[in-house]
Amino acid sequence: MRKQIAAANWKMNLTLQQGETLLDEITAAGIALASNQQVIFAVPSPYLPMAEARLGSFADFDASAQNIYHKESGAYTGEISAAMLVSLGIKFVVIGHSERREYFSESNADLAAKVDIALKHELTPIFCCGEPLEIREKEGQNAYVAKQLEESLFHLSADDIKKVVIAYEPIWAIGTGRTASTEQAQEIHAYLRSVIAKKYSDAVAGEISILYGGSVKAANAVELFSSPDVDGGLVGGASLIPAEFIAIIKALK
Ligand code: 13P
Repeated sequence: MRKQIAAANWKMNLTLQQGETLLDEITAAGIALASNQQVIFAVPSPYLPMAEARLGSFADFDASAQNIYHKESGAYTGEISAAMLVSLGIKFVVIGHSERREYFSESNADLAAKVDIALKHELTPIFCCGEPLEIREKEGQNAYVAKQLEESLFHLSADDIKKVVIAYEPIWAIGTGRTASTEQAQEIHAYLRSVIAKKYSDAVAGEISILYGGSVKAANAVELFSSPDVDGGLVGGASLIPAEFIAIIKALK
């Protein structure tokens, strides 16, 4: 059975001390996860050892990097390699967030290379896709996100794509307070799963967790996650508020 996942994306927020307090408040809630559930915190890179240390004793609570470089090692000042993350005990990495695509010009081809190096080092990629507002207004979202999957993921073998977590994050819903409706989320998640099924198989598509991201909060998480093809959320703003993120974890199927 595929995992239901609550993933926090702290982005470039919080001091180390604020991050420590946030993790302590969330883990102190004593949430018992079911065997199909997973909680992930994508924290700023300097906080990864802190997060790993704090989460280590909580089963299925894990830290994640927010980005990775596609080269093994070498003269790439400021970048972080897969091997570095593995050496810290990290198991997850967010790849292709729309903010990286927009502000750092990461292309579908760049992201394919990042996915490859992550998988080579046995890191689980949390691969983000999602359309901008002008594409949604023209109802071009399906073709747009299918192309993102095709160009960054569909070179993978069936065994490898099963290791990827997909996060559908419509750009118009990120940080705007404007959430996709439950129907919109279910519709495009089911579409993404059908595209994967067509390329690979129903069985492969059925094993891949597809998270929704974009203004997820305690007030809408239960309804969003209740959709059959929505396997949890990737959460920005609300993940910085302990009570909000605790409620979002509890909203998992
Ligand atoms: P918000 O939850 O703040 O809209 O951010 C979503 C997001 O980008 C998570 O990666």
